[in-house]
Amino acid sequence: SAVFAGSLANAATSAIDNILANGEMKVCFEAGYIPFEMKTKDGRFIGFDIDIAKHMSSVMEVKFTPVNTAWDGIIPALQTGKCDIIIGGMAITPQRNLKVMFADTYLEIGQTVLISSSVAGTVNSFRDLNDAKYTISTQIGTTGAQAAKKFFPKAKIDLYETSADAVLQVANGKADAFVYDMPYNALYAAQHKDSVVHLDQAFTYEPLGWAIRQDDPNFLNFLNNYLVQIKKDGTYDRIYDKWFNS
Ligand code: ARG
Repeated sequence: SAVFAGSLANAATSAIDNILANGEMKVCFEAGYIPFEMKTKDGRFIGFDIDIAKHMSSVMEVKFTPVNTAWDGIIPALQTGKCDIIIGGMAITPQRNLKVMFADTYLEIGQTVLISSSVAGTVNSFRDLNDAKYTISTQIGTTGAQAAKKFFPKAKIDLYETSADAVLQVANGKADAFVYDMPYNALYAAQHKDSVVHLDQAFTYEPLGWAIRQDDPNFLNFLNNYLVQIKKDGTYDRIYDKWFNS
């Protein structure tokens, strides 16, 4: 009937349809988040998320198309169709979840702090940083920024566009501490033993998830089943070990 035909025509399009029709999956991330997404000197994107995104694309038999996007505008980029999915170490937060759908958690992390060697010994726990005499740096629009405001309301909080700029403030003495995700901080501390100290007690709980546009149960179902599959068949562990245990 005409009524039935009308309702079919109005059926929402899944991102899956675009991906298959275009033969590519456009993936948003911000390449400045070690070891999840990084840009090599010769312009390639590498990391834990990148390997998962490439594997996911190959399973869908489409090309992986990287869309490197400023963190601050990454949800708008997804919403306006610049990409099909965000695979970028994004924490599933209630505020973000009001705007996008998240697949199930693919990694659990928490916030920690990197402190400058000059305050090591004075600052022994993240709690000591809630003091007007301290300056804390982090990246704008992140859960690190959210945690900094919540846990260190008395401190001065400086927000930077990229994590690299934010963490540099600690190394060059303009900030006393940098608040960010545990895996990033652990790796950065291992690479900069002389300039920062990692207080590795996580003080938040954050599940990371892949984000897609709302009203897309087909894609969500695909992603959750794909995640179970790679977690059980060794693919996830192989990629994890490559980036976190080497
Ligand atoms: N996990 C944190 C968040 O969700 C930080 C992620 C930052 N990722 C990046 N590519 N810079 O806000």
